[in-house]
Amino acid sequence: MAGLLERAFTSAPGRAVASRLGLAEPPVLRRGPALPDEPLVLASLAGSTLVSDTLALLGVRAGEPLLDDGPEPPAYPGRIGGIVVDARDLRRIDQLEALRAVLRPALRALAASGRVVLVADDDVDGLEARAVRQALDGISRTVGKELRRGATCNLVFVATGASASDLASTLGFLLEGRSAFVDGQSWTVAPRLPLSPSPTPTPFLPPSATPAAGIPAAGVALGSERGGGGRRGDARGDARPLAGRIVAVTGAARGIGAQIATVAAGQGATVVCVDIPAAGEALAALANGLHGTALQLDVTAPDAGERIAAHVASRHGETARLYGIVHNAGITRDKLLVNTDAQRWAQVLSVNLEAELRINPVLLDGRPGGLADGGRIVGVASTSGIAGNRGQANYAASKAGVAGLVRALAPELAPRGITVNAVAPGFIETDMTARIPFVQREVFRRTNSLSQGGLPVDVAETICYFLDPDSAGVTGQVVRVCGQNLVGA
Ligand SMILES: NC(=O)c1ccc[n+]([C@@H]2O[C@H](COP(=O)([O-])OP(=O)(O)OC[C@H]3O[C@@H](n4cnc5c(N)ncnc54)[C@H](O)[C@@H]3O)[C@@H](O)[C@H]2O)c1
Repeated sequence: MAGLLERAFTSAPGRAVASRLGLAEPPVLRRGPALPDEPLVLASLAGSTLVSDTLALLGVRAGEPLLDDGPEPPAYPGRIGGIVVDARDLRRIDQLEALRAVLRPALRALAASGRVVLVADDDVDGLEARAVRQALDGISRTVGKELRRGATCNLVFVATGASASDLASTLGFLLEGRSAFVDGQSWTVAPRLPLSPSPTPTPFLPPSATPAAGIPAAGVALGSERGGGGRRGDARGDARPLAGRIVAVTGAARGIGAQIATVAAGQGATVVCVDIPAAGEALAALANGLHGTALQLDVTAPDAGERIAAHVASRHGETARLYGIVHNAGITRDKLLVNTDAQRWAQVLSVNLEAELRINPVLLDGRPGGLADGGRIVGVASTSGIAGNRGQANYAASKAGVAGLVRALAPELAPRGITVNAVAPGFIETDMTARIPFVQREVFRRTNSLSQGGLPVDVAETICYFLDPDSAGVTGQVVRVCGQNLVGA
């Protein structure tokens, strides 16, 4: 029945009916490491050059903004690919007018899949300044909801002392197609942690074990001509920031996990693909294709952490260390709480949360094959854990728990240069969501600012942004990859 309904909606007449119901064809999103083709604009409302310096590091030559200071807003001569507004010095309510004045003409000229990025100060004093800081978040979320044709709006808070090189990975990510499904979000970039990894490969892998060339990159082909800045590779010109680094991904055999492994390998990582024995065939095929290794392991096993470390040490040598661990393995066992028995409850919490809680300390205790200082821990939460979701009390508990864990662990591991972050995906097209009844699935898909479900690659790109050695000032953050899902965003 679900298949029939789905085919009815995706057939030509079905699409016409859907359109009459107000369900317009969703826009095709610009994906991959590509800046917009159209020119970018920088509106500098702040006294210092931090943001223009960051754009310079990214090789972006940004144009001047037009100002809405007359009876009619002025018109740009053509489409613009995006506008970055440096709003760091805004402290007073009357100063928000300057933001409105630069945004109004720019939003009218924004190209499909265009970008609006606001940059604001994280640490502000005084009641009005703190109210204004929050007001910027309200503006960003609203603009995200008003934009059409795949364009997004996000807000970056910059903590005191953060430099242009600390900000570059975040601004590059937000302007590129890698952030296609990240919309209406705000998070903080701080000065990079001490002991942060250098951008060049460090001894995570012994020299004999450098990754093989020719690993396919997901999304848009790496090395495509850059829009805006005209660079190659990602916005910093570095297409393989994870070269020479070992990254373990749990739940890698399919769906989002397979994409995380693929994107990380495409960025140079040697990937340890972890999944349950029942998924062994798909796991081996993926690991082989990526020149990585497969580890058949149920993450709820009491010795799961020990086995991941032992696998790394046995494959790469006693001196090898993991650079990153991505806790992606997850399950759902949905039922209303009134119908949820102890088994369903425990299974979900065990895989989605307790496993991560048990594995991390083992990888952090300094053993061969464990996590190196300067490394990365990435969790996978969910918008269900932020907003709650009918029938998912167990799942929401586990995913909210992942977000709580990230926030608690980040300051603890900062002295070791290890960042801890999580993504919170919304509706992503995978086997997990394919099990949702069609009508409910179509509603979940459509109820976000981009009117579509995300792809596993969208989550993978955001995770690889966290893994990036240059994201060393991004820690304790939970970023939703949900197209600004109306629920919880
Ligand atoms: N798909 C979505 O819309 C969505 C939304 C929010 C969050 N998420 C989260 O993203 C992650 C991946 O989701 P997906 O949609 O790709 O799911 P999926 O069901 O397609 O894949 C999950 C993978 O995890 C593996 N796995 C399950 N239990 C395991 C265990 N005990 N040990 C090792 N591996 C195990 C499975 O074998 C499978 O390969 C999950 O944590 C999920 O909760 C997904």
